[in-house]
Amino acid sequence: MRETVTAPVSLAGEITPLGDKSIAHRALLLNVLAEGTARVENFPRGRDTLATLSSVQALGVAVDEESRLDYRSTFVVRSPGLGGLHEPAKVVDARNSGTTLRLLIGLLAGLPFFTVVAGDRSLQRRPMGRIVQPLRLMGANVWGRDGGEHAPLAIQGGSLHGISYDLPVASAQVKSSLLLAGVLAQGPTTLREPLSSRDHTERMLQAMGAHLRGEAGFIRLEPGAALHSLSIAIPGDMSGAAPWLLAGVLHPHARITVRGVGVNPTRTGLLDALRHMGARLTVASQGDQGGEPVADIIAESSQLHGVEIGGELVPRAIDELPLLALAGAFARGRTLIRDAAELRVKESDRVATTSLELSRLGVRIEERPDGMVIYGGQGLRGGTVRSHGDHRLALLLATAGLVCQESVAIEGSEAVDVSYPGFWSDLHRLAG
Ligand code: S3P
Repeated sequence: MRETVTAPVSLAGEITPLGDKSIAHRALLLNVLAEGTARVENFPRGRDTLATLSSVQALGVAVDEESRLDYRSTFVVRSPGLGGLHEPAKVVDARNSGTTLRLLIGLLAGLPFFTVVAGDRSLQRRPMGRIVQPLRLMGANVWGRDGGEHAPLAIQGGSLHGISYDLPVASAQVKSSLLLAGVLAQGPTTLREPLSSRDHTERMLQAMGAHLRGEAGFIRLEPGAALHSLSIAIPGDMSGAAPWLLAGVLHPHARITVRGVGVNPTRTGLLDALRHMGARLTVASQGDQGGEPVADIIAESSQLHGVEIGGELVPRAIDELPLLALAGAFARGRTLIRDAAELRVKESDRVATTSLELSRLGVRIEERPDGMVIYGGQGLRGGTVRSHGDHRLALLLATAGLVCQESVAIEGSEAVDVSYPGFWSDLHRLAG
């Protein structure tokens, strides 16, 4: 599909993003572990999270939809507990979702079933050795294409032992996969991360009663605790808020309020980087929801200047780095995004796709092995661009259209449905 976006003369209004995708996956997968009933509110009906929903149902977990409003569901999740789960009857399809695949394999490593998990072409290209190798160290029997490097993955669950492991990359998916395996292992699992990645799994496991200790880059999990089901109202997705925050900052006549956004410090790299660039952002705390801090955020037209974005900011802004490249195009001077080689193994090679598509819109941008250099202040021209089937690219290019002098036509616009179904109607409502 193709959507064309034209910048409105002014941009004002309010948005409440869908529930956080990362937390939604975990709300289902973690509740598999505990016998009982959990209520999951504000569950986002994106393609990725629905893939996780089907995968837990395939294990024998009952999920009933209590209510639905647009793309937000309230589910009642009933797990029979570890003893009542069953082997999936067919291949589980993780579709486009790295989180579904990686976390599910970790969970399955300790369950006595044979399971095959497949995905779409993008997912089959993504690196799986990063979970397969440490899971094998824990005693898991897991196979995949190219010696376990690529999906489909097949797993025969069985007894596991905890490990002490240094993660080679800061990845919440790898960390969470190993923690899910660690819950069912004999002995403690100790993980060290090179930089802190999002910690939703740790927060939720603790809330379920797990013996887990976590501090900057170090996590220790002692298995054996009786876990209880966790009901949760999922906070708004920072990654779904991000396009609106960017449009608010970059558009010359804008004021956008984004309500109920999860502002867990492991997710707020975008806010820090934008502030560093001179953005006018106001964050008003709204307390806690589902064990996570939540805030309303106002973004207003701002004059930005170029900055360097690297180090600890990168995992905290990983999915928003393409949007920060767009911010760089509007900033005075040069913006350097470094230490971000991980972008190359996302749903697309986001260093390559962001550089290619923004350059089509007239941005002067250079690829680096671990990031991008953006030369700002040139403005954007319109044109036709492609999402490469990557939801974050589609969201980036739509945001570019909201702040560009000419129209931007996005081929493959349906990719937004992976994380943000309803995005186009939100855009048309706000942009008039
Ligand atoms: C996610 C972690 C990140 C992120 C992805 C969601 C998660 O991936 O890019 O969109 O829910 O754990 P990595 O952990 O592989 O960096």
